[in-house]
Parts: sequence; structure tokens; C-alpha cells
Amino acid sequence: DEQPGRYKVRSLALAESGRHQIRLAEHEMPGLMALREEFGPTQPLAGARIAGSLHMTVQTAVLIETLTALGAEVRWASCNIFSTQDEAAAAIVVGPDGTPDDPQGVPVFAWKGESLEEYWDCTEQILLWPTDGDAGDAAVASAGPNLILDDGGDATLLVHQGVAYERAGAVPSDTRPGEPDHSDESNVVRAVLRRALQADPLRWTAIADGLLGVTEETTTGVHRLYQLAEAGQLLFPAINVNDSVTKSKFDNKYGIRHSLPDGINRATDILMGGKVAFVAGYGDVGKGAAEAFRGQGARVIVSEVDPICALQAAMDGYQVARIEDVVGEADFFITTTGNKDVLRVEHLVAMKNKAVVGNIGHFDNEIDMAGLAALPGVTRTEIKPQVHEWTFAEEGPTGQAAGRSIIVLSEGRLLNLGNATGHPSFVMSNSFSNQVIGQIALFRDVEDHADPAEREYARDVYRLPKVLDEKVARLHLDALGVRLTELTKSQAEYLGIPVEGPYKPEHYRY
Ligand code: NAI
Repeated sequence: DEQPGRYKVRSLALAESGRHQIRLAEHEMPGLMALREEFGPTQPLAGARIAGSLHMTVQTAVLIETLTALGAEVRWASCNIFSTQDEAAAAIVVGPDGTPDDPQGVPVFAWKGESLEEYWDCTEQILLWPTDGDAGDAAVASAGPNLILDDGGDATLLVHQGVAYERAGAVPSDTRPGEPDHSDESNVVRAVLRRALQADPLRWTAIADGLLGVTEETTTGVHRLYQLAEAGQLLFPAINVNDSVTKSKFDNKYGIRHSLPDGINRATDILMGGKVAFVAGYGDVGKGAAEAFRGQGARVIVSEVDPICALQAAMDGYQVARIEDVVGEADFFITTTGNKDVLRVEHLVAMKNKAVVGNIGHFDNEIDMAGLAALPGVTRTEIKPQVHEWTFAEEGPTGQAAGRSIIVLSEGRLLNLGNATGHPSFVMSNSFSNQVIGQIALFRDVEDHADPAEREYARDVYRLPKVLDEKVARLHLDALGVRLTELTKSQAEYLGIPVEGPYKPEHYRY
């Protein structure tokens, strides 16, 4: 269903199912619900226009309705072509009080199974704000949001690339020479930018000028922000939500521990117990992934480039090896590195017959899908959406028989959101509480300080203060029946910290 400029989702008829799921998720998201209670009366986001680019799931629906409960206007797209839960998208468009015939909710542009062109069109849609305040008006002009809530940095990237072209007075070319074939997103982005620049030669500059900042959800997006800041190209302040302890040490680890096996089970239903699982990367996501496989009784092999993380994996009891030495042994291969070219064609062809291959890092460049597709005689069979069997016509490098196959999940895109429904609500309540606090911090910084010299945030990347990180954790203790021990006054004095926290110095690593 579609109303141009207002929404584009699979079907508004799914809204009722979505609303029930949102209602149950609210019960599991005590952090977000507590923030609604605390900040609802004062409306700290009144006047905020938030462009959100983050997996359009049931949990994200609770985040969106928390932002609107605090006064914000919101437009939303997913940050991955496969991650939308169509019921959640429909419920958000319809709104809690609307009906499919009379949608009263938030503009959403997202459905499961977008093409890359559609994906970037949706990302552009969240950045175009109706000028007359009537979200139903199809005549969307080049007004913009004043905040971005990003996951992976694609909305931020679109604005930055657009501004770069406008400043250079250049028109993006179709393809960039020397760019590997599989980075087709870049070519699609250029097509969106070209069209936008033809419509309005200063659109992106106007949007960037209106932006007070961005809060970024994930490791890969944060990495992009620090690169922009270091190059002196960051156009507005950024809050790194990922590196709140209550985000990366929870979502990336415990979230993955839940949603990785969920994705594998829904996709394949292949027993993990007794099998060998190869996990590339032992950062926060890799730690959760390895633990999930171990919990199922698999023997886990980890690969790492960082000696500290490799040593951690070894001390945690995992074999640490190079892919080329164990490629013929494993039944499951999962990439968690946020890096490119981790599973290459030479590895894919050397795997066991019917090995399961998937990525859970943010982008799809961890596995060389283009190289796989280009192999002579290789065939791709769709078992069901987001599950494909690739059959090899030729023998493998060490005599693997022609006719063998591997199972690739979500076409190499993050499989926990492509094959399942991503992380569960409780862990996302932690991540999204940080998002809400970050959005408030950026917005109030400008609203409450007319004089820019008094503002806290400049064009740089910031983390939230530890005391707020501890607050997010605190909001989730009651639901788990946790009784926290309180410092006595003399214990606090002995340690030299306040009774009410923060309890750790900035350099503490948890
Ligand atoms: P991290 O930086 O903590 O861990 C990545 C690890 O991979 C590092 O220890 C690094 O040394 C290692 N690595 C890099 N190149 C490698 C290579 N060629 N071979 C083996 N190891 C290599 O990052 P984190 O937080 O674990 O995130 C990883 C990715 O997952 C990022 O893209 C992030 O955005 C994404 N992510 C995905 C989630 C999901 O729901 N699917 C949730 C959270 C993060």
C-alpha cells in the first residue's frame, strides 16, 4: 500500500497483527516505557523532526512511538532490504488510534524484500519533509528533518555525499571506475543523488543545514562517523550510541546470542549440536555468536586478526584458526567482522557439501556473493525467500565433487534480521533507550542554548555520559528481579566515587 510522500508498506491490512505484537513488546521494553513516563509530561522532543533509518521491526515500532510520545515528528525507513517486519510497518503507519482506511500514524517507507533502488528511494523519502506540515500532502518539497536516527549510517551518508557533489558542482556518474562489481549500492546511491540534484541543485545542502545531529546505532555506522570526523567532513554533531556499554556489550553480544540461532533455525532447521561452526571475528558480535553455537553443542572455531580478541577466544575455550586451514571442516560459517572480503570464492568452493553460510555483520560485503555468482556453471536455487542453495558445476580445489552445494542465507546480508526477526525486545530496550536519550541530548542542546558558544556538541562524535549508561541499565533491573547492592557512604568514600554513581572511570572496559 502506498500514498506518495506519506507511506509505502507491504499492506495496511497487517496493522492489527502488528499492533498486538507491539503491545506485547512494550511489556518487554521497560527502558523505553520508563522514558515515556519520565519525559512524556515535558515533551522534550516537541519540534524535533526525526528521520529514522533503522530496521523496521516490532521493537523499532516501540522506539518510534516513544519518540512521538515525547513530542517528535518522525519519518522512517529500514536500514536493510530484508529486515522490515511488514506488520510492524503497517501498524506504525495506521497508528494506535487509526484504521487502515484512516491511517493516523507515522510515515513509514519500508517492506521486506526491497530492491536496492527501492531501498535508497525509501532512505531519500525520510529526508524529505512536507513543508506545510501536512504529511498527507503528496507535494513534498525540499524541507528536511532536524535530526537523523541512523543504523549503519546510510541516511547520514546520503546527506554527506549529496553535499559533497553540490559543493563540487558535480553530477554523480553512473559507475565509478575501479569499484568492485558487488558494491552496487554505491552506484544506486549515485543514481538517487543524480536525480535529486537535477530536481534541486541545493537540496542536500539545505537538508544538512537544518540538521542538528545524528545518533548512530551500530559499530559499522560509528566507524563511518569517526572517519568523517577525522577527515574534517562531518557536517553535524554525532552521538555514538553503539559504544554505550548498555548497547554494544548487550545488543551486539546477548542479542546475537539469541537472534543468530533463531535465523539459522528458521532458515534451515539444521541441528547445530555436534557440528563444527566457524565464526569470523571475536568482537562483541562474534562473542555472542560463538556462545550461541556452543550453547547448542557445536564445536566452535574462531578467526581473528586482533591478537587480543584471538587470545580472548582461546581463553574462552575456542579453537582459533585461519579460514584456509579449517574450511573443509565446518558445517556453519558466520561472518561477524564488519570487514569486507572475509569469505572469498576460494573458501566457498572448498567447503563441505551443504555447508551453511551466512553473515551477521552490518553490510553484505563480508562474503563475496558477486564472485560466487560469477563462477562458471554455478546455479542458484531458491529454497524459500532468503535461503538459496548454490550448486557448483566444477570440482573443488581439493577434489570436492562437482554437483555439491552450499546454503547461503539472506544473500549474504545480516541473517538474524533477514531470516528471523532480529534481536528480542528486552535487549533492544537497552539500545533504544540510549537512542532516545541521545536524540533528546542533541535536540535540547540547541533548543536550550540560543548561543552556540554554550552548546555541548560541535561537529564531532560523542558518547553519552556514563551516568546515563548506568541509568539505562538501572531501568532494566526490576523486570529481571535484580536487587542491587547499595554502597554505604564510607564504602563510597573509600573508593572515591559517589554513592549514586557513576561507578567506573571512563577507561573501564567491562
Ligand atoms: P567489533 O569491532 O567489536 O568486532 C569485529 C571483530 O572482527 C574485531 O575484533 C576485528 O578484529 C575482527 N576482524 C576484522 N577483520 C577480520 C578478518 N578479516 N578476519 C577475522 N576477524 C576480523 O564489532 P562488533 O560490534 O562485533 O560488530 C561487528 C559487525 O556486526 C558490525 O558490522 C556491526 O555493525 C554489526 N552488528 C550487527 C548486528 C546484527 O543484529 N546483525 C548487531 C550489532 C552489530
